[in-house]
Amino acid sequence: MKVFDHYARYYDLLYRDKDYRGEADFIIEQVRAHAPGARSILELGCGTGIHAQLIAEAGYAVHGIDFSEAMLASAQARRAGLAPELQGRLDFSQGDVRAFRSGRTYDVVISLFHVFSYQTRNADLQAAFATAAEHLAPGGVLVFDYWYGPAVLAQRPETRVKRLSDGDLSVLRIAESSLDDMASTVDVNYETTVSVGETREVIRETHRMRYLFIPEIELLAAQFGFEPVVHQAWMEQGKPSSASWGAFSVLRKR
Ligand SMILES: C[S@@+](CC[C@H](N)C(=O)[O-])C[C@H]1O[C@@H](n2cnc3c(N)ncnc32)[C@H](O)[C@@H]1O
Repeated sequence: MKVFDHYARYYDLLYRDKDYRGEADFIIEQVRAHAPGARSILELGCGTGIHAQLIAEAGYAVHGIDFSEAMLASAQARRAGLAPELQGRLDFSQGDVRAFRSGRTYDVVISLFHVFSYQTRNADLQAAFATAAEHLAPGGVLVFDYWYGPAVLAQRPETRVKRLSDGDLSVLRIAESSLDDMASTVDVNYETTVSVGETREVIRETHRMRYLFIPEIELLAAQFGFEPVVHQAWMEQGKPSSASWGAFSVLRKR
């Protein structure tokens, strides 16, 4: 079972305070600015499908893919609860960001909430770029966010504790991290205690994250036929800095 299959059970609870609405609007703004007239979007690593739904509500046709069966099941359940017209613009299927091929192109490829940082080896990152390139015609754009290297090195990951509850479900999550600066990765070791009524389960899992630097993004972009359009702090207007853990890039297919 993949680490995200456990995760899916309490993912939406863990991130219920995440500003998905604001993020979807931010992405739509980027799409309107850099791919005006775009209609179709491929989302790599769609998770439980919240961004996809919100972006589809703005009129786009969104195809989300994810390799976690449990995350996808949650996305499919979300889709099933929507109006038929919206369901018609929303599609989810299983696929690995590094290998997925739909056999068609989209106007835009997006990948949100650090999915590219989950591609930790050079070969994984190259494969993710190849997937994006394969699904875009010339002029199409790739928008993705990631952990921004200079900020991760300046701030260093800290131990974090998150406590949440919803009805009889409660989640306590402790995250302890170790950084490998030779590999540009951080192992985030989560110990999550999930309690449902009197039943308690402790789940331990490690999420390995790669932090990225602009020059390596530009190197990958050049290798896969993209030109850089924007490198920016996530959900902000300025360029990324040592204060912005999250950054995003917009790349255009040549
Ligand atoms: C932090 S979650 C983000 C999910 C969603 N984008 C969101 O914003 O809620 C990372 C997601 O990436 C997916 N993922 C990571 N690596 C992947 C890969 N190689 N292929 C497909 N999905 C992947 C995981 O299954 C998980 O759903």
